[in-house]
Amino acid sequence: MQTVRQLEALREAIAAWRQAGERVALVPTMGALHDGHMALVDAARRAADRVVVSIFVNPKQFGPNEDLAKYPRKEAADSRLLAGAGVDLLWLPPVEVMYPEGFATNVSVSGVSEVLEGAHRPGHFDGVATVVAKLFNQVQPDLAFFGEKDWQQLAVIRRMTVDLNLAVDVQSVLTQRDDDGLALSSRNAFLMPEDRARAVALPRALGAVAKAIGEGGDAQEALAQARETLTAAGFDVDYVALADAESLGDPQPGRPMRLLAAARIGGTRLIDNIALPA
Ligand code: PAF
Repeated sequence: MQTVRQLEALREAIAAWRQAGERVALVPTMGALHDGHMALVDAARRAADRVVVSIFVNPKQFGPNEDLAKYPRKEAADSRLLAGAGVDLLWLPPVEVMYPEGFATNVSVSGVSEVLEGAHRPGHFDGVATVVAKLFNQVQPDLAFFGEKDWQQLAVIRRMTVDLNLAVDVQSVLTQRDDDGLALSSRNAFLMPEDRARAVALPRALGAVAKAIGEGGDAQEALAQARETLTAAGFDVDYVALADAESLGDPQPGRPMRLLAAARIGGTRLIDNIALPA
């Protein structure tokens, strides 16, 4: 596996593959890799001739009071994992390569970026859209892989890719979960053992809402019940909401819906989501 930190070297490697007619897949990450990321790498490996993984802890997607400084950084361990998984190139741009002095451009996807996560983390999705647009331009992949755990992020990236005519096939991979159902996340490493034990209430609450709605129960009542259950389990709830799966706006009859939640336990903010039949 090549490890590349400068744009010229990245472009050279990719140009050589393109000349040989090879298809290139990108897996964008912020590192601290877990089995959720490795499922993206596996999917990319199956779909393309060459796999590029980027690791960049993107300062633009962290709010002023968020965990940028303490976000886990594990470059050596990540690099060993990726090499073992058959990744061809690890793209590790330093912050001054990604955002050179004078950087002044912002990619903002209105609507889908403004609700739920966007309402609780102002500017977050502008940071995500900006860095992903840059990564797409830098790597120029045929395909890019994102996890469904960050469902709204996936919807923002799909909207941006269509709106900007970016020639990248955006693919998603199912959320990977621990045995008890907790969605894998780099932030789970911050959970103290007692909070980790209680965190399973989050996927269980989503499952209970889906079951209640599936059995014909009132959606608003089921959502309110989930908020109560999470609060009783020690969570500070940001939202538990039912949304249109693509626009993240209000659910529309006959269209796929998504059930999404964000809540904090012991200072760690967790998100999760599941599909609901239309
Ligand atoms: O999901 C992530 O890890 C990040 O938001 C992404 C897509 C790599 C952009 O920084």
